[in-house]
Amino acid sequence: MELTLKGQTALITGASSGIGAGVAKALGAAGATVVVNHSSARSKDEAEAVLKEITDAGGAGMTAQCDVSKENEVINMFADVVARYGTVDILVNNAGLQRDAKFHEMTLDQWNTVISVNMTGQFLCAREAIREFLRRGPRPEVSAATGKIICMSSVHELIPWAGHVNYATSKGGIKMLMQSLAQEYGDRRIRVNSICPGAIQTPINRAAWETPQALNSLMTLIPYNRIGQPQDIGNLAVFLASDQSDYITGASIFIDGGMTVFEGFSDNG
Ligand code: BGC
Repeated sequence: MELTLKGQTALITGASSGIGAGVAKALGAAGATVVVNHSSARSKDEAEAVLKEITDAGGAGMTAQCDVSKENEVINMFADVVARYGTVDILVNNAGLQRDAKFHEMTLDQWNTVISVNMTGQFLCAREAIREFLRRGPRPEVSAATGKIICMSSVHELIPWAGHVNYATSKGGIKMLMQSLAQEYGDRRIRVNSICPGAIQTPINRAAWETPQALNSLMTLIPYNRIGQPQDIGNLAVFLASDQSDYITGASIFIDGGMTVFEGFSDNG
């Protein structure tokens, strides 16, 4: 593969597993120096394993523990990365979780946990990234854009999701966070976009694919008839981080095997 991201540093939150790990590997393979963020001491080994795959393949990077919902931890993580690599060029705001419950049974803790990681975490990381992009200014030798932020949203910024109101609300919020940032910083050549994955085979949605029955039922929602893989999302992240997509900002890009064309309407409605 062409090393389109050579000379750039990419920080990926929640990169010890799932989509984040897939994105970190893809950006590493495209030549970026990769910061594999993980949330707690418990996920350190997984993050180290992701980094090892990247370095074994000839890439470079570090792991960084930080709970993205904690302001001081986010500030310290960015300071460490800038001290080590000089700057950050690409932020992938990926860390996210689900705490599912029927709405009338949802606890405040379930609501707050999802909002603070999925939304406040993206706010805190985007703010530090933009502060760094503004401090550092353009680096035309590595990219036409002064900085790039990719927000991990979901098909659920569009498709309402009963039983997951906290999660769908967080993704709806990410849409406006992303678009408002694209509007506010476009003239500084900072690009901000969202990736909106459908069902990607990761631990977060294990129940939707781990039995043949569950997978069959999932396929009724996916015209393309396969579950997505983290590499699918990694491929799009490389494109959105590279100058190949230099005229794209403020966009939500759906990558879902067609989930958002509502297959249930194919012979009725
Ligand atoms: C959720 C998954 C779900 C997918 C499609 C994602 O944002 O995290 O659990 O399978 O959307 O519904």
